[in-house]
Amino acid sequence: MEVQAVLYVSATGFTRRYAQMLAEAAGLPACPARGPGAPAPGAAVVYLGWLCAGRVRGLRRARTRYDVLAVCAVGMSPLEMVPLLRLAKDNGLEGAPLFYLRGGYAPDRLTLPWRLMMAPMARKVDRERTEDPMALAMKEAFAHGADWVSPEALDPVLDWLRQGDA
Ligand SMILES: Cc1cc2nc3c(=O)[nH]c(=O)nc-3n(C[C@H](O)[C@H](O)[C@H](O)COP(=O)(O)O)c2cc1C
Repeated sequence: MEVQAVLYVSATGFTRRYAQMLAEAAGLPACPARGPGAPAPGAAVVYLGWLCAGRVRGLRRARTRYDVLAVCAVGMSPLEMVPLLRLAKDNGLEGAPLFYLRGGYAPDRLTLPWRLMMAPMARKVDRERTEDPMALAMKEAFAHGADWVSPEALDPVLDWLRQGDA
């Protein structure tokens, strides 16, 4: 079945940017999962959601309404640190195409509940003594935010769309 739309859920904007870039490159509409302009129920979609404690936000709801043909999880971890098989399993996606996109971290755009949920992790990272460049980058991200969105990260998703697997 052909993908009809790019559906997304984004809290601070990184996932929205990926969804818009993907939609533009693929010639599809990008629709927020909630709100006006959502596709008709049953539509075939690529779903993008931000990662929250290992879960792709909004995915379960989207799967009850749409034919979710592929999923992009957007998080702040470096790609090489993401256990994709585990992510797929935890999100009930064994066998379905799952892509990981590195988004960013915008503490100033987080609403209070999310900031509170992230606070213990932010404190832990802040206390870490490290010289490791990757860990230092994460410290900086937790303290001041970071933006790792890159159009190239979407290449595997576009390849998948173009292969006609969709
Ligand atoms: C409460 C909370 C939990 C998070 N959990 C994860 C996680 O498990 N893995 C990860 O890589 N990023 C995690 N993040 C980071 C977000 O997924 C990341 O900032 C993402 O780019 C946000 O996308 P958005 O701007 O579309 O909301 C978490 C962020 C918050 C606020």
